[in-house]
Amino acid sequence: MLEVSDLHAGYDNTPVLRGVTLSARDGAITALLGRNGMGKTTTIRSIVGLVKATSGSIRFDGRELCGMPIHKRAQLGIGFVPEARQVFPSLSVTEHLKIAARNGKGGRNAWPIDRLVELFPVLGRRSSARGSQLSGGEQQLLVIARALTTNPSLLLLDEPTEGLAPSIVDEIGAMIKRLCREPDAPAIVLVEQNLTFALSIADQATVLVKGEVAFDGTAEELASDPELQRALIGLGTP
Ligand SMILES: Nc1ncnc2c1ncn2[C@@H]1O[C@H](COP(=O)(O)OP(=O)(O)OP(=O)(O)O)[C@@H](O)[C@H]1O
Ligand SMILES: [Mg+2]
Repeated sequence: MLEVSDLHAGYDNTPVLRGVTLSARDGAITALLGRNGMGKTTTIRSIVGLVKATSGSIRFDGRELCGMPIHKRAQLGIGFVPEARQVFPSLSVTEHLKIAARNGKGGRNAWPIDRLVELFPVLGRRSSARGSQLSGGEQQLLVIARALTTNPSLLLLDEPTEGLAPSIVDEIGAMIKRLCREPDAPAIVLVEQNLTFALSIADQATVLVKGEVAFDGTAEELASDPELQRALIGLGTP
């Protein structure tokens, strides 16, 4: 589904990614982990096309994305939920979903609003609430739902749990897991600083250290090795 290999990218003359390899498959979660500034967001931005790769390859659905313009990549079915939640304060939940809804891949919109509400019931209960009235957790679910309106086959989530209370984090985890069990579930790349959370829901894990892959394996393998976690991601992570 998504195969990133030997990706090099950076900003102006500053190289950040130095040979990143990463994969994600339909209905599964790949956690992309690492301390601050290790290149997680840069990796996601390179897949979306916001950062230009200097070399390497990003294959998605059998196509090469490197060199392809951003809008073309979006049309192939790449959904991106950036770190800042970007909810409109004055628009209601339903309005957010309506303005985002457009035909996705293959002219299809497989995620009409009622299906999204079924998946994330809180959005139904809060359908007329305005962006400014939503809690951080509700805003996060809304932006994930908004990204799903176009029926992406790859969903990139950049630190969805940042700043949220532990009980809300668990709820978001349960929703993401539920999404994975849907019949046409996307492949998910989940960038996280919250290691416990990420490893509790992910299938695969990739850890970046200074723009290089320091671990690539199953989430289970990393979850069962606290020494390795400490060495690669360090103490002080939640
Ligand atoms: N727009 C930019 N211009 C120049 N350098 C940047 C830019 N954005 C990020 N960087 C640098 O690239 C490196 C990787 O940043 P990146 O945002 O990818 O890290 P990250 O792993 O997502 O970190 P965090 O956990 O803090 O979000 C850092 O050294 C950062 O300072
Ligand atoms: Mg980041």
